[in-house]
Amino acid sequence: AVPISVSSLAAMKSRGERIVSLTCYDATFARLLDGAGVDLMLVGDSLGMVLQGHRTTVPVTLDQMVYHTACVMRGCERALVVADLPFLACATLDRAIDGAARLMQEGGAQVVKIEGGAPMLEIVRHLSEQGVPVCAHLGLMPQSVNRLGGYRYQGRDHASAEAIRHEALALQDAGAVMLVLECVPEALAGEISRTLSMPVIGIGAGAECDGQVLVLHDMLGLNPGRSPSFSRDFMAGRDSVAAAVAAYAAAVREGTFPSSAETIY
Ligand code: KIV
Ligand code: NA
Repeated sequence: AVPISVSSLAAMKSRGERIVSLTCYDATFARLLDGAGVDLMLVGDSLGMVLQGHRTTVPVTLDQMVYHTACVMRGCERALVVADLPFLACATLDRAIDGAARLMQEGGAQVVKIEGGAPMLEIVRHLSEQGVPVCAHLGLMPQSVNRLGGYRYQGRDHASAEAIRHEALALQDAGAVMLVLECVPEALAGEISRTLSMPVIGIGAGAECDGQVLVLHDMLGLNPGRSPSFSRDFMAGRDSVAAAVAAYAAAVREGTFPSSAETIY
């Protein structure tokens, strides 16, 4: 299979083909997801919660992100691999450059993801100019959970929606190649997806985004009672992980995931 690139994702967006994405943290799952046709694998710092058992993503280190990225790369042939810069890795431009270098050169990541809007513009611009494909991340930003005081939907009032709209455009202008929108109302995510030329991947952001991403362990039903309401257990009624991932991919491509019950309006 021809490997997915940043430009193939942009072409999928312009053809109206939805992008299928899941988080992935190791080589075995990477091989399986790749075989099931997942387009985009995200080595997310959510690994701090689902693999390490922490309550937040804050304890995750750059070393750990590099390690898991390298594991995923060994199992992946077709999908594009995005790796998260973890908590405080973008506190300074120098740290961000060092982090991106390690994720790409040691880990083999093809895209680097950065949480944040206005405060990250200079870093996004600089990395982009240096040839680093940057995935931006707006809406709920889990690395800021201690400041926000919890995991809550974002962009539900006019001012907050306006800020997200503005920052999304500014990030694209700064050179970002794609955007993850987490936990925002469907209408806002849809509007941003139609406005931007870069692909927008939603999680808890309704069905109108250019693609969808879920945390792998949630969509495999491995966290009963702990999965967010916007996720779905694709293992239910199926007898293999491959079948569950294939069902997820089909549901995203058909637009039947997320449903209205899995969406905030
Ligand atoms: O860490 C992660 O898994 C993420 C996605 C949920 C977007 O950032
Ligand atoms: Na993340």
